[in-house]
Amino acid sequence: MNRRSDVRSDGVRPIAWDPQAGCLCLLDQRVLPARVEWLRVSDCGAAADAIRDMVVRGAPAIGITAAYAVALAARNSYRVTATGWRDALNEDLTRLAAARPTAVNLAWAVAHMRGLFSGIDGDPFPPLLAEAERLHQADIAANRRMGALGAELIDTRCSVLTHCNAGALATGGYGTALGVVRSLWSAGRLERVYADETRPWLQGARLTAWELVEEGIPVSLIADGAAAWAMRSGKVAWVIVGADRIAANGDVANKIGTCAAAACARRFGVRFMVAAPTSTIDRDCPTGEAIPIECRDPDELLRFGATRTAAPGAEAWNPVFDVTPADLVDVIVTERGVVRAPDTAGIARLFA
Ligand code: MRU
Repeated sequence: MNRRSDVRSDGVRPIAWDPQAGCLCLLDQRVLPARVEWLRVSDCGAAADAIRDMVVRGAPAIGITAAYAVALAARNSYRVTATGWRDALNEDLTRLAAARPTAVNLAWAVAHMRGLFSGIDGDPFPPLLAEAERLHQADIAANRRMGALGAELIDTRCSVLTHCNAGALATGGYGTALGVVRSLWSAGRLERVYADETRPWLQGARLTAWELVEEGIPVSLIADGAAAWAMRSGKVAWVIVGADRIAANGDVANKIGTCAAAACARRFGVRFMVAAPTSTIDRDCPTGEAIPIECRDPDELLRFGATRTAAPGAEAWNPVFDVTPADLVDVIVTERGVVRAPDTAGIARLFA
C-alpha cells in the first residue's frame, strides 16, 4: 500500500484493513515525514507493540487499532481452540489494554469488543472485524460532526494554535482538533495555524505540519516555549487541542504542555477549545486526579534520535501527558454537542 492510495481530500487515513492479506496496515508515524511506510500487523501482540512504540498514536487511533487487534486475537485464538477461544485470548487482551495507560479509548475499545464475545456463536472473526470497521467509520463521522460544531463557535476569521497532533493521523481520519481546523479552513475563517513542535516526539513538527501542508493550510511551526508569546502578542484567538481522557468533571488529560497552553490562554484572553469524541470521556474518573499519566523512557529527552544531547550524568523525568483543570477550558466539543465552561453537570448532560 502506498501513501497516495490512502490520501483523501481531507487528509490521510493512518489505519487500513487489507482484506486480501487479512491484516491491519498502520502508517508508521515514527518515520514521518521523512518516509511513508506501512507496518503490517496480523496478531494482537504486534498491535500492542505498535501502540506502545508509537507506530500508531493519538487516542482515537489507538482505540481503533485496539478494536482491530481484538478481532485478530479472536481469529488466532479460534484457530487454536474453537470452544475455548474466549479464555485463550485473555492474556493478549490484558497486554493490549495496558500498552499505553492514559488514552482511555484503548481500554474503552478493548472492553467494548470484549462485551460482544458472549453473543457470538461460531467463528468470532467476521462479527468482530465488522465491529472494528464500524467503529473506525463512526470515528471519522464523529470527527466531521465535531469539526462542524467547533468551527461554528469561531465566527471571526482568525489564527489558532494547536499542540501535539490531534489530526487525521491521530484518529480514523479528519481529526479532532485538526477536524475543527479543517472545517474552519473550508468555511474561509482560518488565517493560519501555529503548531507547537511538541517535544520530545515532535508530533507538531513532524505530523501536524505535514498534514496541514498536504492540504495547503498555512502553518507556522513554533517552539513549545513560544506558545505563551504567540498568545501574548495577539497572534492567535483560539487554542484548539484534542484529549486523551476527559474526567467526569471536565478535567482534560492531553499531551504534556497542554496545561501550560491553557493557563497562558486564560491569562492572555485567548479562548481554549478541546475537541474529543465521547469515547474519550471517562465517567469512572471523577476528576483529573484519577487519570493515570504515562511516563516514558527518559532517553526520549536525553537523546535526539540516536545522539545523546543532554549533559552526561543528567537524569530526566518524562511525563508525556498532563491534566488541564476544567476551569481553564472554555468549551469541550464532542460529536454529541458542546459543553461550555465544562463541569460535572455539563458533562453528564451529554450522556442524558
Ligand atoms: O503521545 P501521543 O502522540 O499519542 O499523544 C497524542 C495526544 O496527546 C493527542 O492530542 C490526543 O491523543 C488527542 S488525538 C485526537
